[in-house]
Amino acid sequence: MRPDFIPGHISDADIRPLLIAGAHGTLGRAFGRICLTRGLAAVELGRADLDIADPASVAAALEEHRPWAVVNAAGYVRVDDAETDAERCFRENATGPEVLAQACAAHGLPLLTFSSDLVFDGEQEHPYTESSVPNPLNVYGRSKLAGERAVLAAHPAALVVRTSAFFSSWDEYNFVHFALQAGRAGYPFEAADDVRMAPTYVPDLVNTALDLLLDEAHGLWHLACQDSCTWAELARAAARRAGLAEDFVVPRPMADFGLPARRPRQSVLASEKGMVQPSIEDALGRML
Ligand SMILES: NC(=O)c1ccc[n+]([C@@H]2O[C@H](COP(=O)([O-])OP(=O)(O)OC[C@H]3O[C@@H](n4cnc5c(N)ncnc54)[C@H](OP(=O)(O)O)[C@@H]3O)[C@@H](O)[C@H]2O)c1
Repeated sequence: MRPDFIPGHISDADIRPLLIAGAHGTLGRAFGRICLTRGLAAVELGRADLDIADPASVAAALEEHRPWAVVNAAGYVRVDDAETDAERCFRENATGPEVLAQACAAHGLPLLTFSSDLVFDGEQEHPYTESSVPNPLNVYGRSKLAGERAVLAAHPAALVVRTSAFFSSWDEYNFVHFALQAGRAGYPFEAADDVRMAPTYVPDLVNTALDLLLDEAHGLWHLACQDSCTWAELARAAARRAGLAEDFVVPRPMADFGLPARRPRQSVLASEKGMVQPSIEDALGRML
């Protein structure tokens, strides 16, 4: 008798996976990695296998993989390019999540999707919570807000996580990595010192978002480090942790960068739902 042939034994073929859309991006790869370490079966699909804005592609993926839940890690995140690429930005950030939400609602599947601190205008003096009123200043923020609203209208049981400014050691496309690269090479690194936000440590984000999904949480949730900083303060904190002198960080007003998209002067996320993430220093301590 085969050793796995035990009456009542659940074979791998019976385990319904978590379906990760946008699996080749920063967040998608982090979900794949953490599912592996947590022993959660996952199907990781990039754009070539699943286009979230194409209803036929979504229907085919759900039919083929029969997931127990869907994580949407796909999106258009180039905030400045979005100012002149609104159609594509809205396709990936609003239409795509809506198509996924409609399909998940029709199949009775939980959906986890992500939004941004840039749905806020920065005029509020204190941190933004889930019930704060959004008022985006740029195309990207408007597309994320449209996505949130479309998802929750189509699938009220969906989980929509607002988060901000990713950092981790798992890829090189983040501010902390660029700052440390400059510091280690002995180059000056200019960073805004008049814009305040709560950056997000990607491993903590993914673990907490998965916990919320497994707990069947729904609606809007804010997940970011529990404290806040300016971009220049983040670069200096990372430099200290990495054992570098901080003076390569050159503080500048955000306006000096001449970026096409307007940014809120503060977009600090806090939660009124009691969800507290570790601090920036704690995250940097584990990262560096
Ligand atoms: N990065 C941050 O600091 C940050 C902050 C707040 C919120 N978020 C949110 O977090 C999510 C993930 O961001 P990220 O930084 O991981 O982005 P990312 O690294 O750019 O990855 C996004 C992935 O989505 C894919 N994609 C785009 N449109 C798609 C579609 N229609 N169907 C399937 N895949 C598609 C992209 O593929 P292609 O390369 O082929 O386009 C890319 O692989 C987004 O919702 C973003 O708004 C990010």
